[in-house]
Amino acid sequence: VVTPPPADKLLGFGAVSKSLADTVVVPAGYTASVLYAMGDPLTAATPAFRNDGTDTDHENRAGDQHDGMEFFPLSGSGAPSTSAIERGLLAMNHEATIDEKLSAFFLHPTGGTMSLPRPGAEVDKEMALHGLSVVEVRRNAAKWETVKESSFNRRVHQQTEIELSGPVRGNALVVTKYSTNGTKIRGTLNNCGTGKTPWNTYLSGEENWSGYFTRAATDDAARGNDKSVVSLKRYGRDQGAASRHGWETGGADDKYARWNLSKKGASLDGSDDYRNEMNGMGYIVEMDAYDKTRSIKKRTALGRYAHESAAFGMVVAGQPLAVYMGDDSRNEYIFKFVSTALWAAADATAADRIATGDKYLDSGKLYVAKFAADGSGQWIELSIANPLIAAYAGYKFADQADVLVNARLAGDAVGATKMDRPEWCSVNPANGEIYYTLTNNSNRRVEPSGASQAAPDAANPRVYTDMKGTTAQVGNPNGHIVRMKEGAAGSAATAFTWDVYLFGAEAGAAAATVNLSGLSADQDFSSPDGLAFSTATGICWFQTDDGAYTDVSNCMMLAGLPGKVGDGKKVTLNHARANGTTLAVDTYVGQAATADTLKRFLVGPVGAEITGIAETPDGKALFVNIQHPGEGTAAANAADPTKYASQWPSNAGYGAGKRPRSATIVITKNDGGRIGS
Ligand code: FEO
Ligand code: CA
Ligand code: CA
Ligand code: CA
Repeated sequence: VVTPPPADKLLGFGAVSKSLADTVVVPAGYTASVLYAMGDPLTAATPAFRNDGTDTDHENRAGDQHDGMEFFPLSGSGAPSTSAIERGLLAMNHEATIDEKLSAFFLHPTGGTMSLPRPGAEVDKEMALHGLSVVEVRRNAAKWETVKESSFNRRVHQQTEIELSGPVRGNALVVTKYSTNGTKIRGTLNNCGTGKTPWNTYLSGEENWSGYFTRAATDDAARGNDKSVVSLKRYGRDQGAASRHGWETGGADDKYARWNLSKKGASLDGSDDYRNEMNGMGYIVEMDAYDKTRSIKKRTALGRYAHESAAFGMVVAGQPLAVYMGDDSRNEYIFKFVSTALWAAADATAADRIATGDKYLDSGKLYVAKFAADGSGQWIELSIANPLIAAYAGYKFADQADVLVNARLAGDAVGATKMDRPEWCSVNPANGEIYYTLTNNSNRRVEPSGASQAAPDAANPRVYTDMKGTTAQVGNPNGHIVRMKEGAAGSAATAFTWDVYLFGAEAGAAAATVNLSGLSADQDFSSPDGLAFSTATGICWFQTDDGAYTDVSNCMMLAGLPGKVGDGKKVTLNHARANGTTLAVDTYVGQAATADTLKRFLVGPVGAEITGIAETPDGKALFVNIQHPGEGTAAANAADPTKYASQWPSNAGYGAGKRPRSATIVITKNDGGRIGS
């Protein structure tokens, strides 16, 4: 008897309704199972997680706040593969810990210390929970499981030594007490989006690292208002800035002191000056998930900013490689790196994957995007040879390494377009077009009233404050997804065209000004963040990290089958100014969403962001991360499970204790079909 293949029409599933339940909802015919949660052991010797704050050995457990993630297939014999579907490695980012007050109160026995100084033991645990992990996963019969005793399992945390690679390596800006020749740093921090290289390594973006450092209240004058002051301010560290968790107060050891950018010790040679510590954070980091003996490298040629994902353009033999990236902060930029080396197809299976990374990611040109009102755009090279950069009045760049370390200032110098917070980007495998989520921007203004604010433009055209667009015009709460098509030169092009794939909106919002993509109740979303195309199905998966629509629904994941740049139409938005005049902004709206091209696929538990997308090469198992369930629980309620905003995943039958935990889920289709069909 031959069983006919399952019906496999993409987006054939029934759309998931918006939900406020403390559970993961997927379409009928699908199963979502919890696979790997914060604290799960990664060695045979590490005890099961008690989840009551008393656990130890976090350097050998899953970190917190699972974010971007990639799947690395393993053959039956444990060799690297590009096609295996029953065994593999999940490499993932552990971005952060719960943000309320100074501490991460679900991590410590009695909720953590909410005042300074922080106990060293709490800081040690929190530093161990930030970073990366690699965990082996296998399918046994129909069930996916982690392999606790796998020799591939790996943790990277704030005490892990990481190499600086590329043009910044050895530069004076990264000389520290820890690395007097500027070649290494401890740790990778606030890792958010991810990427996968054509040679099968893992890329991780360091995002909100600056918030972990503190500066003294009178630091500007103490440093003579030197250029380090300009740089620190541009990256969000005004003098007097407090650190997110007070790690610098954990003790006298310099593993704590290094988080204080103002700290100057007694030595005459400056070796206990921690000024440059932050210059070692903010990069795309490359790790060989298959080989934990190899050092991890920060690829400085790709620039230093609040990185999300890193997506490769179409890979063509004999052509340079393009890597697309964004800087997620209000009014920041979109970037492209173009390799000096031309792609050699044999490198896809090179035995030394880190050396292959050296070849393609340590030398090249970094560009920033400038969008024009007519639907065109330019990539502007960030080079010390550009007179706008060399003679920039706002900051004196010393050399190309300084341009890369201070890529935001270089983007300012060339007049790049200030975007509505670029989050993930991904490349459509069908046509090479590049998609960027622009999650939201509370600083978008019709009438700019300060340096940190920006007027709407064609690529960032909406301003309003509520979901329906009925209140005053300040900010873009719902975000949108912009897409770009390279010019004839492909990866090396310096010109592109663009339009907006989708505008986030409430289904009932005004069609002419807010719900420009015509979203229905089965499709409406706010604040897109994670985004990745499936190479198995071509589906554009995207996920939300939303605060604007969470009174109506928890965060979610949607499946799209997009068209292409130029499918849409020009729309003019007329923004009323306070003085009675109108600011007219033209934009380009991709084709309206239909039930065949966009559907909600998943809604998560309470307080969680949905992020991270990875799949087996056949597209039949999809891994997704549920990040920070229970966010919003007040510190005062940290000891009482009945007052937690969420009890997921224990309420889904996973693990001990009631404290909410970030976790990876795996989604399969009950008929064995591809995910999204
Ligand atoms: Fe970690 Fe921009 O999201
Ligand atoms: Ca993100
Ligand atoms: Ca986000
Ligand atoms: Ca997050």
